[in-house]
Amino acid sequence: MNIGIVGVGTVGSSVAKILKENADVISARAGVDIFVKSGVVKNLSKDRGLDIKLTTDVDELLNDESIDVIVELMGGVDEAFEVVKKALAKGKGVVTANKALLAYHRFELQEMAKKAAFELDTAYAGCFEYEASVAGGIPIINALRDGLSANHIESIRGIINGTCNYMMTKMMNEGVEYASILKEAQELGYAEADPTFDVGGYDAAHKLLILASIAYGIDVKPEDILIEGIQNVSKDDIAFAKEFGYVIKLLGIAKKDSDGVELRVHACLIKKDEMIAKIDGVMNGISVVGDKVGETLYYGPGAGGNATASAVVANIIDIARSGKSKPMMGYDKPMEGDFTLKSIEDIVSKYYLRINVSDKTGVLAKVTKLFEENNISIEIIFQKPTSGTCANLLISTHLACEKDIRNLITALEALEFVNKKPVMIRIV
Ligand code: NAP
Ligand code: HSE
Repeated sequence: MNIGIVGVGTVGSSVAKILKENADVISARAGVDIFVKSGVVKNLSKDRGLDIKLTTDVDELLNDESIDVIVELMGGVDEAFEVVKKALAKGKGVVTANKALLAYHRFELQEMAKKAAFELDTAYAGCFEYEASVAGGIPIINALRDGLSANHIESIRGIINGTCNYMMTKMMNEGVEYASILKEAQELGYAEADPTFDVGGYDAAHKLLILASIAYGIDVKPEDILIEGIQNVSKDDIAFAKEFGYVIKLLGIAKKDSDGVELRVHACLIKKDEMIAKIDGVMNGISVVGDKVGETLYYGPGAGGNATASAVVANIIDIARSGKSKPMMGYDKPMEGDFTLKSIEDIVSKYYLRINVSDKTGVLAKVTKLFEENNISIEIIFQKPTSGTCANLLISTHLACEKDIRNLITALEALEFVNKKPVMIRIV
């Protein structure tokens, strides 16, 4: 089987290396030898330490009838979408690690793959795999789509961005500054080309949407769901977390109840003895609860060249073995009874707030009165001076409704002694 790699960067070059270094086990498992016929890059003069033919012209690969499978590892949405569409239309199989592409176009691509499998007679027509798009080296797509297919999925809670987990772990455990640790994650090949995708929660949201489509068949875009990042987490928040037995992690959460499906990505305070709180560094961890199986947990490296390429190569082997397209998101026919997306305002959670105030008489009374007026009950309150005239109020609540918290924050912001927009972190 011949493959063409579109994008020979961190992941693409690891794919080429793994196919070469592990050729014995790979061809034994695939039942055929797998060759990299050529690769596409932007800059031909970069030394990649690879002995494969490189070009800047993607059409060379798409028009090459001897290439059976296109492996899309260039990233981005629009150009990658064009490449993948053309590859499917030409009857080639496709493997991608591109979660941004899938966050926007997974349902269209599913239809195109189905059509290609039905109409074209090439060996791998309609084969479309994307295991590496969520949680790098962890086979979570396989587990959710195939291993748990007998279950109604009740919830998914995941640490699904390695960069954020790496950063939060270093900030919590070593007190390292945000900016220097982001640079380190970039140098290690964990971060996206634009790291605001990582720290802003968008990358985790892209992955959450892919998982939610498999679990619930739900077709929503990143713009439809709650996405917050880790940019506002400060040393004071970390100190509060430590004092009260929490860690702070970025989580992607999908949860089903009778009102619909809740999808959200945000920083969370998690009790430090929970399993998911112990997942540190670049590691990812995902808890999936099925109605029949109960809770299952998946753990492994969520980013980096080799870990991600391990999943990409597994998909290539899978296509070589079966040569048949299977339902991309696991549904062969529409689900009965559609799931609807729950409104963000209906989320119920415990909350933590950091409110920077001028430290003077009556401030605390006025702040706590606003909590009462918005039906929010305080669990812990803690005051930490920040300078001679200011202090941070660190407050956690009992269960409250997102709508009430948002109203409270708006009311707090309007007080003349509140110096900055209060920071809020949800407690899981
Ligand atoms: P990367 O290191 O930036 O590599 C991208 C590659 O694509 C480079 O070789 C680049 O060429 C090439 N490229 C980009 N735009 C191109 C264009 N218009 N024409 C031709 N070539 C183009 O990215 P990466 O980290 O390998 O990530 C690749 C994909 O995997 C992304 O979708 C990413 O989200 C996903 N992913 C990455 C990881 C990870 O840990 N890195 C994990 C899971 C999924 P040059 O080398 O010449 O610049
Ligand atoms: N930037 C992503 C992360 C790469 O840090 O998790 C893996 O998808």
